[in-house]
Amino acid sequence: RKSVIIDCDPGHDDAIALLMAFASEKLDVKAVTVVAGNQTIEKTFKNALKVLSFAGINIEVSKGSEKPLFRNLIVAPEVHGDSGLDGPSIPDPILLPSKRNAVETIIDILNKSEDKVTIIPTGPLTNIAKVLLVYPEAKEKIERITMMGGSCIAGNWTPAAEFNILVDPEAAKIVFDSGIPITMCGLDVTHKAQIYRNEIEKIRNIGNKVATMVAELLDFFSKFHEQVNDKFGFKGSPLHDPVAVAAVIDPTLIKTKLCHVDIETKGEFTTGATVVDYYDVLQKQKNVEVALDIDRERFIELLYELLKKYN
Ligand code: BDR
Ligand code: CA
Repeated sequence: RKSVIIDCDPGHDDAIALLMAFASEKLDVKAVTVVAGNQTIEKTFKNALKVLSFAGINIEVSKGSEKPLFRNLIVAPEVHGDSGLDGPSIPDPILLPSKRNAVETIIDILNKSEDKVTIIPTGPLTNIAKVLLVYPEAKEKIERITMMGGSCIAGNWTPAAEFNILVDPEAAKIVFDSGIPITMCGLDVTHKAQIYRNEIEKIRNIGNKVATMVAELLDFFSKFHEQVNDKFGFKGSPLHDPVAVAAVIDPTLIKTKLCHVDIETKGEFTTGATVVDYYDVLQKQKNVEVALDIDRERFIELLYELLKKYN
């Protein structure tokens, strides 16, 4: 089993990504760390504790950064509602918060782990950048960072930038320049990982309480996406964050291209862009496996299979 740490900002798709990771026999989740992004840290942290408690998962959950390294926080209530996880009513958490913050938890796990650890960030990269800043030796203990964020072609929050990178571009730059192997599950692939209404019904029909909650999360998430589907050319809702978890569970689900990627931090129109040297014009060190395609059907099958485990 692969040792992993999930760093997230739940968030509907983050919540589903967490539930997939804990149900998979391929992954050994060592901790969940939380960052501000889709909502403020108080909200994303509470959401993580609620979702994990509801699913009966006992794991260390550590609170992380309340704001990006240098910028003010941008949140996404349009997509995730005022709570960051609008839709289902999930009871207050039973799980207690860790006494350690996200950075302490990640560093300690990396230090104590016998094998290298894969980090799966599904929010802004603030916590991960802080780990690399305060403890550069961490690099040696990280097998890979398989993250959701970025895009080759176009952004979803500005014309050039995807939300997670836009929120904290300086953090993203630190991570992308670190030399750690990176798999970037950006919009190029996550927009191909859509879930359709009839598939949400199939999830509801699984019948266990976790699957029912996921269906209710997707009801809310789909209502937002149905308002923007025309401009994005979608027929369903993109399951962004679950792609990153699925790519670690089963790397054969995605197709990637190894490219040099820089993060734009100073652009007039393009701050937060992941500048992917697709044609290798710069001939610079290729630092990122850029995910470009996914076997959507198999990905959705994996989601069903994992949610059934909560029976
Ligand atoms: C990303 O932004 C957030 O709204 C989602 O949780 C996902 O991580 C998609 O751009
Ligand atoms: Ca997220």
